[in-house]
Amino acid sequence: MEKQSPFSGSTLLVNAQPPTRRQSRARRFFFGGLALITISYLAAPHFDALPENIPVWQPDHQERFKAGCVQPDPIFPSKDEDLDKLQDFIATETFRNASIARLSGAVQVKSESFDDLGAVGEDPRWEVFYDLSHYLAGAFPLVHEKLLVEKVNSHGLLYTWKGSDESLKPSLLMAHQDTVPVPPETIGAWKYPPWSGAYDGKYIWGRGSSDCKNLLIAELEAIELLLSANFHPKRTVLLSFGFDEECSGKQGAQKLSAFIHERYGDDGLAVIVDEGSGYQEAWGSRFFLPGTAEKGYTDISITVRMPGGHSSVPPAHTSIGVLSELITNIEANQGYPTRLDDENPYYSQLQCGAAYSPGFPKKLKKLLSHRKSSSHKCKAKPDYLALEAAKQNQYTRYLMQTSQAVDVITGGIKINALPERVTVTVNHRINIGETTQVVRDRLTDLAGKMAHKYNLTLHAFDGKEEPSSIILTETKDVLEVAPVTPTDASVDGPFKVFAGTTRAVQGEDVIVAPGIMTGNTDTRYYWALTKHIFRFDPGYDPEDPTGGFDNGIHTVNERVSVAGHINSVKWLTTWVRNMDEAKF
Ligand SMILES: *[C@@H]1O[C@H](CO)[C@@H](O)[C@H](O)[C@H]1NC(C)=O
Ligand SMILES: *[C@@H]1O[C@H](CO)[C@@H](O)[C@H](O)[C@H]1NC(C)=O
Ligand SMILES: [Zn+2]
Repeated sequence: MEKQSPFSGSTLLVNAQPPTRRQSRARRFFFGGLALITISYLAAPHFDALPENIPVWQPDHQERFKAGCVQPDPIFPSKDEDLDKLQDFIATETFRNASIARLSGAVQVKSESFDDLGAVGEDPRWEVFYDLSHYLAGAFPLVHEKLLVEKVNSHGLLYTWKGSDESLKPSLLMAHQDTVPVPPETIGAWKYPPWSGAYDGKYIWGRGSSDCKNLLIAELEAIELLLSANFHPKRTVLLSFGFDEECSGKQGAQKLSAFIHERYGDDGLAVIVDEGSGYQEAWGSRFFLPGTAEKGYTDISITVRMPGGHSSVPPAHTSIGVLSELITNIEANQGYPTRLDDENPYYSQLQCGAAYSPGFPKKLKKLLSHRKSSSHKCKAKPDYLALEAAKQNQYTRYLMQTSQAVDVITGGIKINALPERVTVTVNHRINIGETTQVVRDRLTDLAGKMAHKYNLTLHAFDGKEEPSSIILTETKDVLEVAPVTPTDASVDGPFKVFAGTTRAVQGEDVIVAPGIMTGNTDTRYYWALTKHIFRFDPGYDPEDPTGGFDNGIHTVNERVSVAGHINSVKWLTTWVRNMDEAKF
């Protein structure tokens, strides 16, 4: 996936420690206290109308939290002798050894993608993807014999396993074939060489081992296994593998999605699973958090143009001074408000925590019980729940807030010449419930004030510029907030099957809750194809549960746990079988 902070994705959750004894005591006290309050409330004389705004504990709060975070029973596929044996086979050393060899082999193909790649067919750096598809054909003979394999834009791979029931919408598994590059100067810092695919008894090491050749190989392994067990799907299964996810997805995912859309149309797919977030401990509970929303994205450049001249007779403020003042204003007051939209997956996570987690913070629970569903919409008032939740750690705030980062600045070329043109570029990730327009409006306002103060003309997103002006432009890669996947497990639908499958594979004590991605995946091109997108890493290793966030993604020493990888295969075979039995 696109690089996120090591604590984004599902990183969302906090208090990763089990509750201490003191917390447990506090908790007992808390619940005891609640009981007391409840009793005294019930015993107290009732007034017909309580004045508004006086928070009163209501005994149904706990039930309400549970209703906001329904956990379905584990879902196991119907009994089938061959297919059930297959689940046992996945647990054998024979399969483990073969799986290690297959994943290691895939890591050894150096399929890096670069930001400056030229056209497919012209830039020779794309050629390595021929090697990778050739490798996959050799490693998965049944898949390549039995499924329809189509190549889109030379290297995009679309596999179709046709189901017998045309009335069922296909389910799609995604992954990407490319990896971020390894900067040559860092090769020496790797414990094992980055394209060795070395296996040390527990992990496979190398670039792409956990982002995301593990998922690519696990998906193909799951299908190969199901074919070998004579599974005949009723529901069509698709696999689509892009090859430039790490540099925008325009050659791979964008073209693949257009191709799939041509065939199946709007809402033509039942569900999509792509790379994303996975396991996380929080508040003393074990969570699985598929990404069900992605923040939006926009980069905005601000240019200040002012007359040049000799440095010996300068104005009070050069263009660099003016731009600096503007940047200071942009960064003032946290930039954007901290607000938790009802649709924000983090709101569901809080309800899950309040419903089931022993270590869930008291104060948050209280704020959560008093929240009216529309309270975040009152823009004049601070969102107290969001502000309190943001205190948990430095990363949680940006699950509920549009972020801004002043990342690039250029201007000034000579020490005795006044700078005529300086430019800064600011990166933004848009909060759920907002649009990129929020950013354009705010910057237009702030730049307008600055233009007025220094007698400059403002050109905000109008494509024009002139001397003595402030110019705002938006780079091309604007992305609105992704549509939020429905996640009510009390109704039959993909989330219920997803959560039921996960609880079947990982244990009934886990909580499956929606998560939020602060970065983007290839699914950004697939929104029209289904409302149900899960960005998920099923590769959970109980012995190394945080593996997903300490595994060198995008840096040196990338690695993946083999036990986690095997768990992915188990999850994927169960998922495909469960979706095959689903009626929607
Ligand atoms: C798996 O690989 C290990 C190490 O190469 C080997 O010792 C073991 O015999 C293999 N097991 C099977 C069942 O092939
Ligand atoms: C503002 O700029 C305009 C044109 O660039 C100029 O004519 C005018 O005198 C300036 N006003 C001040 C107060 O500097
Ligand atoms: Zn990835």
